Amino acid sequence: MMTISQAQVMSSPNPFALVVSCDQNKKSNIMALSWWTYISNKPASLGICLSNACYTGQLLKENKEFSLCLVPPSLADVALQCGKVSGRTVDKESEFLIELSKAKKISPSIIKDSPLAFECTVNTSIIVGDHTIYIAKVVCIHGDSSKSHVYAVDGYSNLKVTQ
Ligand SMILES: Cc1cc2nc3c(=O)[nH]c(=O)nc-3n(C[C@H](O)[C@H](O)[C@H](O)COP(=O)(O)O)c2cc1C
Repeated sequence: MMTISQAQVMSSPNPFALVVSCDQNKKSNIMALSWWTYISNKPASLGICLSNACYTGQLLKENKEFSLCLVPPSLADVALQCGKVSGRTVDKESEFLIELSKAKKISPSIIKDSPLAFECTVNTSIIVGDHTIYIAKVVCIHGDSSKSHVYAVDGYSNLKVTQ
């Protein structure tokens, strides 16, 4: 018998992205996220699965918008840090010197050098045990197919370009 944690290590590499959300004063928060997936083409929609404890989930209840940004190799170290500390206690944008750019259709920013960034608005959320799935419509996509991005490997311990 395997535990769910052992299964997640065995099934990696896993997808990886940074999620940018913001508070009522437009202050950004950035979290590391592996549990995301496409869930519909028409309308284009994504699902993200957040721990009930994380600050990002609190922000999404207040302002139902986020960007989901794939991460270039140059940002792998700081992206991993974004998965180790909470925006409740650390201003990750300034602490980790992450450059953001204004989004087109939502108030949270996008990661400036992201190869692929989705602007999303949350339609609904479903609590599933210790996590909540946020179902969101994609309202704008920024992409540059010449850039590479990292995946989570060894479970969620490291980030690497796998191709
Ligand atoms: C590689 C990696 C993947 C992660 N994936 C998720 C995830 O899918 N869902 C989640 O809730 N937390 C995930 N985390 C943990 C959060 O990023 C972490 O709890 C973070 O501190 C939450 O930040 P916040 O409190 O500022 O929202 C991941 C962490 C790492 C390092």
